[in-house]
Amino acid sequence: MGLLPLLRTGLALVASLVLLAGICEGRSDTPRGVSLPFVFDAKATCDPPCKHSGICIRNNTCFCYRGYEGEACQYANCYPKCKNGGECLRPGKCRCPPGFTGKYCHKVVCEGGCWNGGECIAENNVVKCLCPSSWMGSWCQEGMCLLLTFS
Ligand SMILES: *[C@@H]1O[C@H](CO)[C@@H](O)[C@H](O)[C@H]1NC(C)=O
Repeated sequence: MGLLPLLRTGLALVASLVLLAGICEGRSDTPRGVSLPFVFDAKATCDPPCKHSGICIRNNTCFCYRGYEGEACQYANCYPKCKNGGECLRPGKCRCPPGFTGKYCHKVVCEGGCWNGGECIAENNVVKCLCPSSWMGSWCQEGMCLLLTFS
């Protein structure tokens, strides 16, 4: 065998190992650090009990399902996190404080709403409607007349 074919074989081997490692990594959906089949103790007791379908795998150690965390899986987590002081009620569901809305409480609320396709925004801490062209007013309620000038 010459040097080049040997090199090719070697590269192919490395490539398939990398591919294999990639596949194995992609399939793992248990959280890092917890290898379920090896640490599971059928007689384990958890006090307080694991919430949200968490599994008691060792004494006072819960294995939490995706979306929950905490010693007893008592806390839901939201990704992206709830903004503006919103509270995560269950995975992906935020409860927003007054004045905020949207899936992650990332949007401000304009009192009275924004009409005609206007978007409620906060600019320098002032909440207002951003109106599409040809609409104006606090709620984008007033139509603007288009003036066409010919020169
Ligand atoms: C778990 O707790 C139970 C009850 O308190 C106890 O009998 C058992 O020995 C504990 N198991 C381990 C592995 O510490």
